[in-house]
Amino acid sequence: RLDERGRRIFELTAEESSHDFGGQRVPTWGFNGEYLGPTLRANRGEQVVVNVHNGLAEPTTVHWHGMHLPATMDGGPHQPIPPGQTWSPTWKIDQPAATLWYHPHPHGETAQHVYRGLAGMFLLDDGQTALPSTYGVDDIPLIVQDKQFDDGRLDESKSVLGDVGVLGDTIAVNGVTGPYLEVSTSLVRLRLLNASNARVYRFGLADDRDFQLVATDGGLLETPFTTNGIQLAPGERAEIVVGLRAGETAVLRSGPQDLGIGALGDRFVGGHDRLDILQLRAAPTLAPSAPVPGKLAEIARLDPKQAAQSRQFRVQARTINGRKMDMSRVDATVVKGTTELWTLTNNDGTPHSFHLHDVQFQVVKVGGSGPPPQLRGWKDTVFLRTGEPVQVIARFADYSDPNTPYMFHCHVLLHEDEGMMGQFVVV
Ligand code: C2O
Ligand code: CU
Ligand code: CU
Repeated sequence: RLDERGRRIFELTAEESSHDFGGQRVPTWGFNGEYLGPTLRANRGEQVVVNVHNGLAEPTTVHWHGMHLPATMDGGPHQPIPPGQTWSPTWKIDQPAATLWYHPHPHGETAQHVYRGLAGMFLLDDGQTALPSTYGVDDIPLIVQDKQFDDGRLDESKSVLGDVGVLGDTIAVNGVTGPYLEVSTSLVRLRLLNASNARVYRFGLADDRDFQLVATDGGLLETPFTTNGIQLAPGERAEIVVGLRAGETAVLRSGPQDLGIGALGDRFVGGHDRLDILQLRAAPTLAPSAPVPGKLAEIARLDPKQAAQSRQFRVQARTINGRKMDMSRVDATVVKGTTELWTLTNNDGTPHSFHLHDVQFQVVKVGGSGPPPQLRGWKDTVFLRTGEPVQVIARFADYSDPNTPYMFHCHVLLHEDEGMMGQFVVV
């Protein structure tokens, strides 16, 4: 809905509810409903207002993951919404088309709030696209989560052997277990969001066919990347275009993967799991889709030599650079308009997923080499393998506020809640 000033207005109410996962109804939380929340969608250049009402019995926050916006609108731990209150952040959409999302971020409680069901997609548009783009027909949002149930409720307890928190054995996609999609076009665009607390997925088709990766966290790649698998750590997104033959059923699945901590270690954090995500049931005749364009976007490379500052962040044992999150400590002060080079290192024997608020970054290096094709687009979250430093570069433009920090943290939500988070201000 647009108001009289042309601003796009959204309403979200976080509330307690219950939801049926494949025959079992369990207590859940949702935005405007039982579980998860509505897809919000806005155009580049629009001013948006979200009226977020907290209908829960405890404080929460709502963070716009991937969004470039002023720190006071970010919805991190410094913008709590008390029970019964409404928070109305407003900002101008000023970034390329992308698949973003929103979720709570209350300090120490994020894992629970997200696991109970508070999350949704926030799609940004930016003019025309030649990609499949009819929402719900050939452009499909997929919020992928793994759930564990125990005795009529969601089981939030951590896996015993892994050190990542809850790993569920039941996949829910948009809150639906055993999901399928009826496809009526020869190409379908899937917007994958890993909204799981801890699980890393390696998405592919069961018959190993190729698909095209067209976008990552912050927007379109320059050119499509043809591959048979894409790994997404918690918080990451990917848009893929899958080709189907008339009448067939194809299965999107998450397969075994190397998580970088050895065969046994990988097993304890879900690396050996094979999980069906979604059946794609193609109609007996399919409407032809336009081919994916060879050129998708222009991405100006940020130059490491222009970086005003280099910083190192070592993540280990629920700390970053040896310090646990402290709401009253600022860990980095960035000068507005400058570019910074951050080197992220995982010194733990467990996978981590590093997320930075406010900006989209570019990956400069993974280990000693340049980024692989799937890491050449805009990113806000990146998987950190043990002992393989990832160098990223970002420009911190437009917004400054010496009094309100943004966060950087591990998006494995247990890790974040237990202290693997830091704060930066832009001045
Ligand atoms: Cu998606 Cu700071 O979070
Ligand atoms: Cu974020
Ligand atoms: Cu972590």
